[in-house]
Amino acid sequence: MDVIDVEELERKRLNLQEQLNKLKTHEERNRLGQYATPTGLATDMLQYAKSLLPSGAPIRFLDPAFGSGAFFSALLRAFPLECINRVTGYEIDEVYIKQVIGLWQGFDLKLNHADFTRASPPESEHERATLLICNPPYVRHHYLSKEDKSRLQARVTRLVNIKLSGLSGLYGYFLCLAHQWMADNCLAGWLIPGEFLDVNYGQQIREYLLSHVTVLRIHRFDAKDLQFSDALISSAIVWFRKTLPSAQHEVEFTGGGTLLAPLVSRFVPLRSLKSNCKWSTYFRNYTKQRSLVSIDEVKSPILSNEYHSISTSREYILSDLFEIKRGVATGANKFFILTDEQVQAYGIAQKFLKPVLPGPRSLSVDEIKADAKGMPLLEKKYFLLSCNLTEEFIKKDDTSLWRYLQIGKECGVHNRYLCRHRTPWYGQEHRPPAPLLCTYMGRQSRERRSPFRFILNQSCATATNVYLLLYPRPWLQEMLHSRPELIRMIWRYLNAIPVPMLVDGGRTYGDGLHKLEPGELGRISVSSLVRELSVTCRRAWVAG
Ligand SMILES: C[S@@+](CC[C@H](N)C(=O)[O-])C[C@H]1O[C@@H](n2cnc3c(N)ncnc32)[C@H](O)[C@@H]1O
Repeated sequence: MDVIDVEELERKRLNLQEQLNKLKTHEERNRLGQYATPTGLATDMLQYAKSLLPSGAPIRFLDPAFGSGAFFSALLRAFPLECINRVTGYEIDEVYIKQVIGLWQGFDLKLNHADFTRASPPESEHERATLLICNPPYVRHHYLSKEDKSRLQARVTRLVNIKLSGLSGLYGYFLCLAHQWMADNCLAGWLIPGEFLDVNYGQQIREYLLSHVTVLRIHRFDAKDLQFSDALISSAIVWFRKTLPSAQHEVEFTGGGTLLAPLVSRFVPLRSLKSNCKWSTYFRNYTKQRSLVSIDEVKSPILSNEYHSISTSREYILSDLFEIKRGVATGANKFFILTDEQVQAYGIAQKFLKPVLPGPRSLSVDEIKADAKGMPLLEKKYFLLSCNLTEEFIKKDDTSLWRYLQIGKECGVHNRYLCRHRTPWYGQEHRPPAPLLCTYMGRQSRERRSPFRFILNQSCATATNVYLLLYPRPWLQEMLHSRPELIRMIWRYLNAIPVPMLVDGGRTYGDGLHKLEPGELGRISVSSLVRELSVTCRRAWVAG
């Protein structure tokens, strides 16, 4: 074939698509789900597919709902012609077929005028597709007859042993039936309505995605960013391979922006997806950006008298309420953290010691009470050695501390990484006691479902970096000053956050260890807590 002008072809296709749209009433297009993919989106999808395929690999392409060929056109723009071995399309509408055939004359395209859901799949592996891209007809179940539903359900059950709900749109049947058309490891990209992520009748589609293929990525467009100028549906693109997933497999969830430049991204372990029937939470509870809400905006609805102005639609995240910091990294806990007995034995003066909490494993309670001096009421007392005086000064002024520091030097503590990089080597980071702490590393067990604990700290003890410390933002601090009991309400709320929300907000290691970094904890949604706080404050304000 002569050199082809792919851009010119796309222009012609768009003209043809426009004519086709004009030939049909809205009702007719609705019945066949005729909503063409915009050029930019089709281009992105084929570019993305290219990034997932080995370069130069021969392609057997299938579009089960061909329309005027938006994806075929994008395929020609994305891949060299010599890589495209075979192209197959299905289109039910005769009007389309008649018009479209002329456009693609001269191309080795097998465009079938047939109902894809009734077509017979290829029998041999080498005839099956290696790349399938589809924008299936968005035909809602109301438009499917009872007989059609029964036929489609039976066919899907025979093929993948899943019975799709009678409420499922035609796209669900397309997705499952295409299974037989894909060669092993075939890459598939499906542009479908985002509803399947959450709705009950999407359950079987999610089941198919979890058990029959390996989902690589799900991109959901912003609900306000409608991909089709002529249809009010929010869209998602599901990418998968026809191969079974490994137990450790993680699915990438991306949202907003474009397929090639999403605004948010996160990886979710497959096992979390299996236990969660609201997949849209994976787009909601995570944002790469800091909260778009400024602290003043959070403050105003709660503290001002304009309580009615609190936005019920706005998302608040934990870092809107707290500054979250990792606890003190001492560089050598064994040396810098002393028990009561060690303090006595070395004669270290109280002014160089700060009460510090034991690690989570030695902390059997979730609420730390304090004596009149603020000392934690715990079985064992621990102190953090903290001093910023120079060694010369200490040598002259405090022989006990001086001797203790010499012991540290003899053991090489001063040469340890953190100590070497700070002055003086025994100086500690400033971490005042925090009213709330979070144990950010842990495993789920029979006794404790959540790997994380939120600790209410009423003492003046600080904590090391086995905890995350939650410091109230100034506005919250101000509120707690006048309503100290609210900290308990916040603590209860945090401990009641559903486990999957916390686990999915963080990361999970192969051995089942869950971890939450400060930023990840800060991004946990706490909108209902903010509303609860505002209501509580409003009541107090009304009561005078
Ligand atoms: C959403 S459009 C997508 C068209 C094109 N692939 C694109 O992305 O622009 C779906 C197409 O599938 C066709 N269609 C509807 N039901 C079909 C069926 N049962 N079998 C094959 N094609 C069907 C419609 O006529 C329509 O052209």
